[in-house]
Amino acid sequence: MRAIAPGRVNLIGDHTDYTGGLVLPMAIDRATEVSGEPGGAAVVLESTEVEGRAVVPLDVADPSAVEPGWARYVAGVVAELRPVTGFRGVVRSDVAVGAGLSSSAALEVAVALALGFDGQPLALARLCQRAEQRASGVPCGIMDQLASAAGVDGHALLIDCTALTVEPVPLPPSVEVAVVHSGEERALAGSAYAERRARCEEAAGIVGPLRDATVDDVAAIDDPIVRRRARHVVTENERVRRFADALWGGRLDEAGRLMVESHVSLRDDFEVSTPGLDALVERLLAIDGVLGARLTGAGFGGCVVALTRAGAAADVGGWTVRASAGARVI
Ligand code: GLA
Repeated sequence: MRAIAPGRVNLIGDHTDYTGGLVLPMAIDRATEVSGEPGGAAVVLESTEVEGRAVVPLDVADPSAVEPGWARYVAGVVAELRPVTGFRGVVRSDVAVGAGLSSSAALEVAVALALGFDGQPLALARLCQRAEQRASGVPCGIMDQLASAAGVDGHALLIDCTALTVEPVPLPPSVEVAVVHSGEERALAGSAYAERRARCEEAAGIVGPLRDATVDDVAAIDDPIVRRRARHVVTENERVRRFADALWGGRLDEAGRLMVESHVSLRDDFEVSTPGLDALVERLLAIDGVLGARLTGAGFGGCVVALTRAGAAADVGGWTVRASAGARVI
């Protein structure tokens, strides 16, 4: 049995998924593969990239307590899927760990398929989202797991996190995507993420679902922090819509500008950027052929994504990534 699941990069729409908003990630041509054979009373995996072995009993009770750290994601999947037989195999991956390319989502999705999950990409993503939450304690949204499960070659994915629909949006051949690591580990990502999510829920308690709220609605929120967090979400949803339209219409400069606006909103209203990420975005924007750049994923360090004209991604440094198909058994 061999299952493969890609990492993802988010082009636009961050900190919108967990309030039922819009996101536009793409699965990338870097993936995690789990190969092996069913059998035994535990899921036992070795990794060719990271130390230690995952040995997860089928009745694992608390995935967040499992060691080594990467085995928690395996344990999260086991706890959600509850396979009747174990598995013994190997994990291979070229998704950089902890860089913001959703290495954990790729691992969860590949493990779930290898352990026999049989169903639609959305059901697979939901199971793996719950696995991630159990493993890490972070109340993440569905974007990462759904991008990995439902990727489409050559396309970004416009995901509506209320309707849970995925609309593939073709990436024109005239653009490339580069991902550059800031060199900063994602510090405080867990606790700060949960705090941001809580503020968004507070805002929704005042004005109703942020997905349906307007800028005027959120301007009436008294608490200045809750107001700014909600303003980011409302304006970001609109940017995702306009970005998808710009891609469809081939308006690449506009798409690039929307990415920069997204970064500014994440920096000033949502406050999940860092001086290192801001400086990296500025540096990339000064390179010829770069249409736009922004932090990608949760923030607090990690990666910047850049949209460039064809042929310019290599000048940016980092990884040039291609939009790829989603997870599958091979
Ligand atoms: C992390 C989470 C996602 C999403 C992003 C921010 O990657 O796992 O669900 O919330 O942060 O957009």
